[in-house]
Amino acid sequence: MTIKQPIAVLGAGTMGSGIAHVFARAGFQVMLCDVSDAVLVRAVERIAANLGREVARGKLTEAEAAAAVARIRTTTDRESLAEAGFAIEAATERFELKRELLAGLDRVLAPEVILATNTSSISITKLAAQTGRAQRVIGMHFFNPVPVMGLVEVIRGLATSQATFEAVRELAVRLGKTPIEVNDSPGFVSNRVLMPLINEAAFTVMEGVATAEAVDGVFKLGMAHPMGPLTLADFIGIDVCVDILRVLHEGLGDPKYRPCPLLVRMVDAGWLGRKSGRGFYTYSG
Ligand code: CAA
Repeated sequence: MTIKQPIAVLGAGTMGSGIAHVFARAGFQVMLCDVSDAVLVRAVERIAANLGREVARGKLTEAEAAAAVARIRTTTDRESLAEAGFAIEAATERFELKRELLAGLDRVLAPEVILATNTSSISITKLAAQTGRAQRVIGMHFFNPVPVMGLVEVIRGLATSQATFEAVRELAVRLGKTPIEVNDSPGFVSNRVLMPLINEAAFTVMEGVATAEAVDGVFKLGMAHPMGPLTLADFIGIDVCVDILRVLHEGLGDPKYRPCPLLVRMVDAGWLGRKSGRGFYTYSG
């Protein structure tokens, strides 16, 4: 099955803009959609700046970066996504929001179009059931920073067809990524394993076992992780981590996934990590 253009990316936050970046860089026409012009302007500025990094490192020419930016059209009108040949939803990790967005996309897209979701933990089967095209709904889970990380976790729902799976696997390769197939289960593989690590790291800080710096130092120096788990939690967003832990807790029914109270309190305080200027660490600029 050939993927037609343009590619619709719904959601222009960190993940949506990263996804738009890699599609545009790979030569695809992209329609990037979000609720406000201000969010879209910021997203395109971020994409241009990140493409600029690649120019600075000699990975792209200035002309290639400019052409990639020019391939991205922005819109706040979801109905205009009707012309898309492939769509990916990259909204906040909340079932109700994704349900509404996927049902809306299902209504406007042509019936043969594949609808992917960049959910990081929610059941693909359940999301697919919100549409009338469950055989063409699939999980395509990218990692932050999207232009840098090599993985795309590809997750089939119960009804996802083989043709959809193969088309998305090939698409990931065209984007320069390595697809890895995993089955539909809360958190898939990535967050089923990563979030308990982050959660346990937060418990060690809460219980006074060590400081955040010490916990991160153990993982950076002892296990060669590029970032310690608490720096990574700030990078992902403390609110996103708590949302994913709740999906694991509810979906797998095991108390070992309950979010650490320190993480919950940080969300209540608005300490969401890098994006809010404060998490386990403080950030300026
Ligand atoms: N866009 C484009 N390029 C970028 C970039 C961006 N947003 N951010 C970094 N880069 C590039 C840099 O230009 C640099 O390129 P070269 O290798 O060609 O020199 C390279 O990435 C490394 O960047 P830096 O030198 O600036 O910084 P660093 O060495 O500290 O690496 C990092 C930064 C790549 C983020 C690294 O710290 C890292 O890999 N961290 C772990 C990230 C991770 O685990 N991500 C997954 C999070 S989980 C997730 O996303 C899924 C989920 O569901 C929660």
